[in-house]
Amino acid sequence: MTDQKISTRHLIGIRDLTVADIKLLLETGKQFKEVLQRPIKKVPSLRDVTIANLFFENSTRTRMSFELAEKRLSADVINFSASGSSVSKGESLLDTVQNILAMKVDIIVLRHAAVGAAKFLSEKVPATIVNAGDGTHEHPTQALLDAFSIQEALGTIKNVKVALIGDILHSRVALSNILCLNKLGAKVKVCGPPTLIPKYIESLGVEIEFNLQNILNWCDVANVLRIQTERMELQYFPSAREYSQFFGVSKNELDLLSKKIVLMHPGPINRGVELNSDAADSEYSIILNQVENGVAIRMAVLYHLAGHRMSS
Ligand code: NCD
Repeated sequence: MTDQKISTRHLIGIRDLTVADIKLLLETGKQFKEVLQRPIKKVPSLRDVTIANLFFENSTRTRMSFELAEKRLSADVINFSASGSSVSKGESLLDTVQNILAMKVDIIVLRHAAVGAAKFLSEKVPATIVNAGDGTHEHPTQALLDAFSIQEALGTIKNVKVALIGDILHSRVALSNILCLNKLGAKVKVCGPPTLIPKYIESLGVEIEFNLQNILNWCDVANVLRIQTERMELQYFPSAREYSQFFGVSKNELDLLSKKIVLMHPGPINRGVELNSDAADSEYSIILNQVENGVAIRMAVLYHLAGHRMSS
């Protein structure tokens, strides 16, 4: 493993990472992916490091992926999910975390519905904080694993045309992907109904395309994002059926393109809404590769953050 160091103490967002940091994480992820192909998938890198996974929002993939990554690195792991905890008795985030820290935890992986929750904690407690998704803001490890998966599929990220399709307004995956792909020199366009494209988006250096067919014709990679109904207080489109008619991706559309594009989705998929089953399960899809790569990338993140912690 390289002795190059990451420049940040916490991973709150892709904004914290330099281009060199991202390249280091992708390279280390590749090495950990090799480790994960071996019969013995465990390395001793994080022995004596204690990690708490604090999930205040629902999660399947991200939570299991972090836990597996931690266990493959031989860390001691404790898990917390808001349902079934004292949060329902009115305890604050800071109180919950300070109690957990009293049990001598080094790294906290936090998922929370509030934008800025990870940043807030990083200013209040001595542990290293990894943001596993803060509301509609950032989801940095998802963007890293997406970049890793694009590089693996196409051999490069520079100048690759990436389409982010769907609920851009509420998606932390969209923001982290835009920031990460821009840093790595990809070309990014977003597509979705006008109500789900935020007004500021062009200031991030991306273009908007409202027509699904046009963006599919343009892109090398289509990353289809879930409609985040749990974050919607207003009605942003008439019905799921109408959304699917205009923005749902199906295999037939992919078959008709002049080149073979790569299809991605961070999961969980709303089959038949943003993505049809025939497309999700087709030869275009690298969705399960994304899940596989998530473990390796999270191992890389934890490995380098633990290294930064020990050297500071
Ligand atoms: C994403 C998330 O939680 O932001 N899922 C994930 O982490 N794999 C995307 C989503 O929920 O739609």
